[in-house]
Amino acid sequence: MKYPSRVKLVDVGPRDGLQNEKQPVPASVKIELVHRLQAAGLKEIEVTSFVSPKWVPQMADNAEVMAGITRLPGVRYSVLTPNLQGFEAALKCRPDEIVVFGAASEAFSQKNINCSIAESMARFAPVVEAALTAGIYVRGAMSCTVGCPYEGEVAPERVSYLAALMKGIGVQHIGVADTIGVGTPLKVQRALEATLRHFDINDVSGHFHDTYGQALANTLAALQMGVWQFDTSVAGLGGCPYAKGATGNVATEDVVYLLHGMGIETGIDLEKLVDAGKFISDFLQRKPNSRAATALLNKRVS
Ligand code: HMG
Ligand code: MG
Repeated sequence: MKYPSRVKLVDVGPRDGLQNEKQPVPASVKIELVHRLQAAGLKEIEVTSFVSPKWVPQMADNAEVMAGITRLPGVRYSVLTPNLQGFEAALKCRPDEIVVFGAASEAFSQKNINCSIAESMARFAPVVEAALTAGIYVRGAMSCTVGCPYEGEVAPERVSYLAALMKGIGVQHIGVADTIGVGTPLKVQRALEATLRHFDINDVSGHFHDTYGQALANTLAALQMGVWQFDTSVAGLGGCPYAKGATGNVATEDVVYLLHGMGIETGIDLEKLVDAGKFISDFLQRKPNSRAATALLNKRVS
């Protein structure tokens, strides 16, 4: 089995992680988290989203957070933009990358972004065009590529259909998300295969939530297909407010431990990453939701 020699991780903790937190997290804490992640060696951070503050109040400070970050050369800062209104607001904050996010299931599309899959494409197309004109890289995210909280199992054909639409409007990179963490390795591989009909392997990433504890296994299954880019969340933060019961993304610490153990480079300093996870977990008054972080923190004490 040939594995990639290097993997790129995008920490989505500040966005996917914190969007679901009920307690207010001040912009200063989010900014500090971003600073700690880049200090740990993360080269891309999903900072925030330009969505309706009525829908996701936690992300209402998007512009403040973007303005407060001290940017490091070589680090990319991405934000979610569901429509032109969000894109125009994001543009003022000079993101390196924007993310349009659709769903492989109709019901989730309606619940999450209040429109059908077809309507979402009509909204995204001008966003993608405007971003490309402004020289901003465009990533697409596909939710519910394995299962949907409203429709149950999602067939690979639905994923292929959505990936083709995303490709058609000019999306440059596509994320295959198991939004509710129900996937298991072979199902995730089928969703990835469906995506690879339309996107090159170098333009595909995995985004696995860990609700059923399968995210590391799913990451390994994706690595075996040659996928080398993943979204992960420091301290395993998060979940989507419109996917009830779903927990956070796979913890960045756990994925880094897995990869380094396999001799795969990430450029990330695991100890500093654990510190970043402890920082935000302390603020949220809970323990990091990462086995590797827990083990390393216990080791420090003993
Ligand atoms: P809508 O209600 O259909 O939008 O919402 P609208 O165009 O009809 O506008 C209605 C109101 O929203 C207006 O305000 C607009 O100004 C405002 P009002 O006149 O009523 O005061 N509005 C906005 N405000 C700020 N920023 C905007 C914006 N757009 C409209 N961009 C919308 C459509 C998409 C905005 C809404 O449904 C929404 O914000 N949804 C939130 C979606 C979200 O953030 N979900 C979580 C992130 S996705 C995720 O976590 C999955 C992912 O991690 C991958 C995975 O795991 O699957 C990416
Ligand atoms: Mg997600």
